[in-house]
Order: sequence, then structure tokens, then C-alpha cells
Amino acid sequence: MRVLVLTGAGVSAESGIPTFRGKDGYWRNLDPTKLATPQAFASDPKLVWEWYRERRQGIRNAQPNAAHEAIAKLAKHADAFLLVTQNVDDLHARAGIEKENMVQIHGDIFVTRCSRCDFSYAGRGGSPEPPESWATKSKSGRLRSRNGCEATAGLSIAPTSDSDVDLPICPSCAALMRPGVVWFGEQLSRNELERVEDFLDGGACDAVIVAGTTATFGYIIDWALRGSREGAELIEVNPEETPLSRFATRLVREPAAIALPRIVDQLIALG
Ligand code: OAD
Repeated sequence: MRVLVLTGAGVSAESGIPTFRGKDGYWRNLDPTKLATPQAFASDPKLVWEWYRERRQGIRNAQPNAAHEAIAKLAKHADAFLLVTQNVDDLHARAGIEKENMVQIHGDIFVTRCSRCDFSYAGRGGSPEPPESWATKSKSGRLRSRNGCEATAGLSIAPTSDSDVDLPICPSCAALMRPGVVWFGEQLSRNELERVEDFLDGGACDAVIVAGTTATFGYIIDWALRGSREGAELIEVNPEETPLSRFATRLVREPAAIALPRIVDQLIALG
């Protein structure tokens, strides 16, 4: 059985992680779809880092739910399997999906990478925050690198308050570090795109499951349709209608943690 699974924020909703566009998605009255942008980071990196640090903490405290577990079970039973998730959390991984079976197409929230050079820090788990010593604090509210130069990294950095800033600075080039996620308007990783393309080129799927995503990005719809092009079942799991709904061969209007264990058991039973 060859299976493609595409997931979004709804799959982690029942682990207590707010979706982007749901009612709990707003943070300090700010719209996440505006915070997750290069523009927000350029104008207020401290605010954006605070949001990501809180989100990291929320994810560390969360546990995978029955939806993550069902997908991991399917991965083990399938002959060929790829999960493409838009989620930057690590709940799929913690449920047991192997790295080679998963593409985090919008990146990994526990990666901290330089906004200028290739340096990155992937401290998943125990202490994912960059070490304190990387940050240079400034009472003036201006961000300063170790050598005293302003770390602009090609961005216009103007912290909004005069309070201490505590921002991670690249130990290699002294530019500002940023979360290792893809923001709106940014390019997807070429490597990760290739992995999806290779899987789609590798043969027709028997089933495609799309769960917990508003499917607002064209590439999600494209992959779901290409994966199911030769008559595979296209199963959508989402309490709400999405742009993909009209293409689905099976619509499951239930929460992912309820529906996916049942769907996975059915697929496994069919072999
Ligand atoms: P959204 O927040 O846009 O959508 C969450 C989807 O999950 C909605 O369609 C809900 O109806 C559905 N949902 C909510 N609870 C659910 C549950 N318990 N079970 C199943 N479905 C449920 O999140 P995404 O579609 O993942 O991108 O958003 C995609 C991307 O937009 C994110 O990766 C992020 C975001 O802005 C970037 O940051 C580039």
C-alpha cells in the first residue's frame, strides 16, 4: 500500500496547540498570519521571538494525540509512505514517524537559524532555546552584536521598546538568528520540495489523506490531486469545508483524533 498523508494545524488542535486561523490562534490580539512574516520580524524581532518562544513552550508541554498516533501506525504498515505536514511542531515525530517518512514543508519550530549565513542550531527537546550567551543585551533597546556593530542581517531592526532585548545572535557572523520556519511569502526548501516530488513520481498512491488543513496553499491541493490521480481514494478529515472538499472521494467531518484511528484501521484491514 502506497500512502500520502498531508496534515495541517487541525491535527495538533486536540493536543492543545492553537490552529493558525481558529479562534484561539490570536496571540496578544495579534493575527498569527501577520506575525509569521519576514515583515513582522524585520520591524519587531523581539515580539516575533517572544511569540515563537511561547509557542515552543506550548509544544514542549503538549503530547501527541490519537491522530498523530494513527498516522504513525499507518506509516509502519504501508509499503511506501510519506507524510507532508505544514505543522512546525514535533508531535508527528514524537508519535513515532521516522524522519525519512516525513517532510515538514514549513520548517521546524525548534530550529534556530541565522537570518544571513548558513549557521543553524537544532536543539529539539530538552533545551531548544539558543544558549543565553549568544544573545547580546542592550539597555538602549538597539540590538548589538558581539563586535559592537548593529546586527541588521539585511533587515531594518527597530525594537519597539527601550527595555532589554534578548535576541539570539549568530555565533558565526553576528547577524540576528530567526526561527527555522517558512514564513508567508518565503520560498519552500528546495530539498524538501524534491522529497515530495520524488515520492509523487515514485508511483501511484492507493490512498491520500488530507487532515486538519484549510488547504489555502496551492501546493497542498496540487500534491493531494497528483497523489490521487490514478484513482486513489482522497480522504479529507476536517470538521469544516475547504477548497479541497469538492475533490475528495470521502469527506469525514469529524475531529482528526476521532476519525483518523478508524480510517487507519480500515485502510490497514484492506491491505
Ligand atoms: P489553519 O489554522 O489555517 O487551519 C486549521 C484547519 O484545521 C481548519 O481547516 C480547521 O477546520 C481544521 N481543524 C480544526 N480543528 C480540527 C480537528 N480537531 N481535527 C481536524 N481538523 C481540524 O492551519 P493550516 O491549514 O495548517 O503557514 O495552515 C496552513 C499554514 O498557514 C500554516 O502552516 C502556516 C499558516 O499560516 C505558514 O506559517 C507559512
